[in-house]
Amino acid sequence: PLEPLVLGIETSCDETGVGIVRGTTLLANAVASSMDEQAKYGGVVPEVAARAHVDSMVPVLREALETAGVTLDELDAIAVTAGPGLAGALMVGVGAAKSLAIAADKPLYGVNHLVGHVCADLLREEGEPVQFPAISLLVSGGHTSLLRSDSLTGHSVLLGETIDDAAGEAFDKVARVLGLPYPGGPSIDKVAADGDPKAFRFPRGLTHPKDQVKHRFDFSFSGLKTSVARQVEKFEDAGEPVPVADIAASFREAVADVLITKAIDACKEYDTPRLLLGGGVAANARVRSLAAERCADAGISLHIPPLKLCTDNGAMIAALGAQLVMAGREPSTLEIGADSTLPM
Ligand code: KG4
Ligand code: ZN
Repeated sequence: PLEPLVLGIETSCDETGVGIVRGTTLLANAVASSMDEQAKYGGVVPEVAARAHVDSMVPVLREALETAGVTLDELDAIAVTAGPGLAGALMVGVGAAKSLAIAADKPLYGVNHLVGHVCADLLREEGEPVQFPAISLLVSGGHTSLLRSDSLTGHSVLLGETIDDAAGEAFDKVARVLGLPYPGGPSIDKVAADGDPKAFRFPRGLTHPKDQVKHRFDFSFSGLKTSVARQVEKFEDAGEPVPVADIAASFREAVADVLITKAIDACKEYDTPRLLLGGGVAANARVRSLAAERCADAGISLHIPPLKLCTDNGAMIAALGAQLVMAGREPSTLEIGADSTLPM
């Protein structure tokens, strides 16, 4: 079909997402998050996430079908995140997708979560979606990856990823050190607005030419996190009040600086003047403003999908599935499994 009707399932981290698209038109994007439950632990606990997916899958699926006003029978295909992500969490989505595919006799596409993030931009209601080839910076609580994609369904190359904490994870951990609530990204963003980003000079990980990395554009945030913790301790040991706003602003500046510097360097190195941002950290006010400033300076067009499509969701997975159907790709077999380290 010219505009296939595809249902997408996403369970790689703590969001249970079911989305439905017709071609590049968004029909439904139902998401349940175990964020509130995770907040008790100050981060995503894989076992808690997997259990929450089991509880949420059927209600979220029902909601998506109702919102879109379609039945399983009408679908042209089902797509599911096969990886990368938390193994136990992925298995819930893959199991659900296989069952639906068998019951409704529909082709099944197991897809890559990161490529799904890239496809989120297809569903925008305003403006032109990103053109290819493009560089994508995908930053969430679970991943920090820089990708170069030749086309939507064609080859994507991993240019860099985090060697320790994901960027969102760094926000969550630093928030905890500063006594701010989970999830850390939004709390730090709020407090940082009143702080001085130049108050402290925190390290920018893996930006020295001599740094040993696997990929040219790998990231590291654990040194930054430790440096913030030390700074906080210094104030505490001296019995002085911790300048939370200044530390938050300086930390946020360091993360934004590293992310955007590497993303722009990649655009230049690959002569690809198009940058797409995705993942929960793309909501960060400083990441966005710095990206806008530096992209404008470098003549790079910047694409940031609406926030509900930036964070993990099933609609982007459905959008990728629809692209695969339109490209005439063979579906996956029902033997597919969940692969927590799924390559591109
Ligand atoms: O894409 P997302 O919902 O996927 C998961 O990792 O589940 O991203 C959530 C992450 C969390 O680590 C959160 O702290 C971070 O994105 N985040 C932010 C902001 N909003 C959410 N990080 C920085 N600034 C924000 N405004
Ligand atoms: Zn994600």
